Amino acid sequence: MTTHSTTNESHTAADRVFAPPAADDVGADRWLIDDAATYERMHAESVADPATFYGTIAKELHWFNDWDSVVEFESPDAVWFKGATTNLCQNCVDRHVADGFGDEIGLIWEGEPVGTNGPEVRALSYAELQKDISRFANALKTAGVRESDVVTIYMGMVPELAIACLACARIGAAHSVIFGGFAAHSIVDRGKDASSIVIVTCDGAWRRGSIVPLKANVDEAVAVLDGAVDKVICLKRTNNDIGWDDSRDIWWHVAVEAEPDECPCAELDSEATAFLLYTSGSTGKPKGIKHTVGGYMVHTYLTSKYVFNMIPGLDEPNRDAPLPNGQVYWCTADIGWITGHSYIVYGPMANRVPTLMYEGAPNFPEADRFWDIVERHKVTQFYTAPTAIRAFMKWGDEHVTKHDLSSLQVLGSVGEPINPEAWMWYRTHIGRGVCPIVDTWWQTETGGQMLTTLPGVHTTKPGSCGLPFFGVDAAICEDDGTEIPEGSGLLTIRKPWPSMLRGIYGDRDRFIETYWNTFDVDGAVSEGRPSPYYLAGDGAQRDADGYFWITGRSDDVINVSGHRMGTAEVESSLVAHPAVVEAAVVGMPHEIKGTGIAAFVTLSPESAPADKHAVEALKKALRTHVGDEIGAIAKPDLIRFTDALPKTRSGKIMRRLLRDIAAGRETSQDTTTLEDKSVLEKLRGED
Ligand code: PRX
Repeated sequence: MTTHSTTNESHTAADRVFAPPAADDVGADRWLIDDAATYERMHAESVADPATFYGTIAKELHWFNDWDSVVEFESPDAVWFKGATTNLCQNCVDRHVADGFGDEIGLIWEGEPVGTNGPEVRALSYAELQKDISRFANALKTAGVRESDVVTIYMGMVPELAIACLACARIGAAHSVIFGGFAAHSIVDRGKDASSIVIVTCDGAWRRGSIVPLKANVDEAVAVLDGAVDKVICLKRTNNDIGWDDSRDIWWHVAVEAEPDECPCAELDSEATAFLLYTSGSTGKPKGIKHTVGGYMVHTYLTSKYVFNMIPGLDEPNRDAPLPNGQVYWCTADIGWITGHSYIVYGPMANRVPTLMYEGAPNFPEADRFWDIVERHKVTQFYTAPTAIRAFMKWGDEHVTKHDLSSLQVLGSVGEPINPEAWMWYRTHIGRGVCPIVDTWWQTETGGQMLTTLPGVHTTKPGSCGLPFFGVDAAICEDDGTEIPEGSGLLTIRKPWPSMLRGIYGDRDRFIETYWNTFDVDGAVSEGRPSPYYLAGDGAQRDADGYFWITGRSDDVINVSGHRMGTAEVESSLVAHPAVVEAAVVGMPHEIKGTGIAAFVTLSPESAPADKHAVEALKKALRTHVGDEIGAIAKPDLIRFTDALPKTRSGKIMRRLLRDIAAGRETSQDTTTLEDKSVLEKLRGED
């Protein structure tokens, strides 16, 4: 299974497996690990003796102070590197400058607009980053931000977004980044929950040639927050007209103008909060997932290194080119999601491999934009989501074939299950039929990658996310914690890992209830104690080789284009519309997005549309309403009006039935408990 070969491939659907290529075959200098025995030994050691394993890894990073113990865990609370002090920004930037790599490029950015001379490109060295981050960190302090305050960041994909995150890390403030595609409402909810008094934003963001009015959304949110926000720092990016309040708003360039270039990295407790990142759950209220400094740093560093085979460049960078000579790593996510936090900013930067950030859409100005970027920047590791891959498949191979993608060494996939057809296309057309694909399973809550293959080690199977990463004790279990060695069940992690969430901000009960209240190991749950096993919220299958296959969420969360969306969130937005009395939202198969959003809606009698035209107009209005309230990603793909929702006699909505109807298939749900049988026919009848 682990011989290095590119020819030993089976193409039959049932048993397609691909052996890992030799480093030479993909143009890599070497694989950091290239044999299964080393992976197995390291994995066994990491799980059996995490103190030794992580203690050794952590020494590759900078700590102001050593730890008393590596890990202590009393469910659900973990303490990693107790007593130690460190700083994420120190490790991502200052450490490299101190080691003599100040001139090396740490961050490459490409803007979306393409002028006559091509797109705008910025390449920032570690020394420049250190200066820019320090000045902005000082500006944050001047704005009143102190250690452990929460700073809200709502920006487009510009270098200053990474700089703002690192500046928070530098002074020990926690950032709460809100995806720029979310609406004003989301800023209000998250800002209020985190009691954030400073918001960092841009006038606007470029997206597919248009301007997203970020500052206007912030203004709307700040008005609702009614005096809770002291300062809004605004980066000038798109030059659009914006509202301005002199007493509260300050331009980024003005804020940093008078600030000194130096700002010490705060010596932070390993368990100090690094950031909050809000994610959807099974209620209407997003959860502020809390991550802490030391463990998060170690896990994102370690996973980036081995999963992407990150090897820092040794050559002098060519400042005129202006790209580096060694690896160039590109993750196409937005920093507003956990993937961007861990694998655009912290993981690659801690490894001293240049990280590429692209501002805009994959099909602007043409459908070949990503491949044009790969070719021009000689990208070596490329990390994207299955949704993007399916879109490229649809747009046509000609956009790919006109580019030289020979620099690519490792391809990654994240965010949702990848269908084997998309996997094969990715490998064949982007990976030249040779690059290994790492399908990485993880979550906002896990902070970093948990299940994956390693590029030089493992045979890959299209559609499977592979095996547990170092330190990860993953299993499939029944509710009582009994392991199912082969077959389907609930995915769990049985031991603490360094970047595990440390809580839901301000809601300990929900933290325990959501993640630590399912597996009744040693009677924990029945006795009212938190379970020692973590509930991932995904169903999964494990095959005879120990490979995991994610089958989808086991809660009321759906994965739209690799982004998590709570059905309850969309439902509460729909019922907030005056025409809507009741709504039920479920996932449905979608050719590009993987999962689309289907909404079954009951209208108030006075809002019943008179004709077909009015039906369409109301559907459009509801889609716009949800888009305005949550963001475009939450807009339902299908809306069906119904007199009543299918419910059991006890009043529970029969969601499985709705999922079947939305997917256009026969239902497997027992409908004998359906209260009003005629509902079923009516639901099926309409478009
Ligand atoms: O359902 C799983 C799916 O995405 C969920 C986590 O979403 P989020 O917290 O937004 O983080 C996404 C980026 C890490 C998981 O519970 N998921 C993530 N990666 C995969 C996946 N499903 C299948 N295969 C994956 N590789």
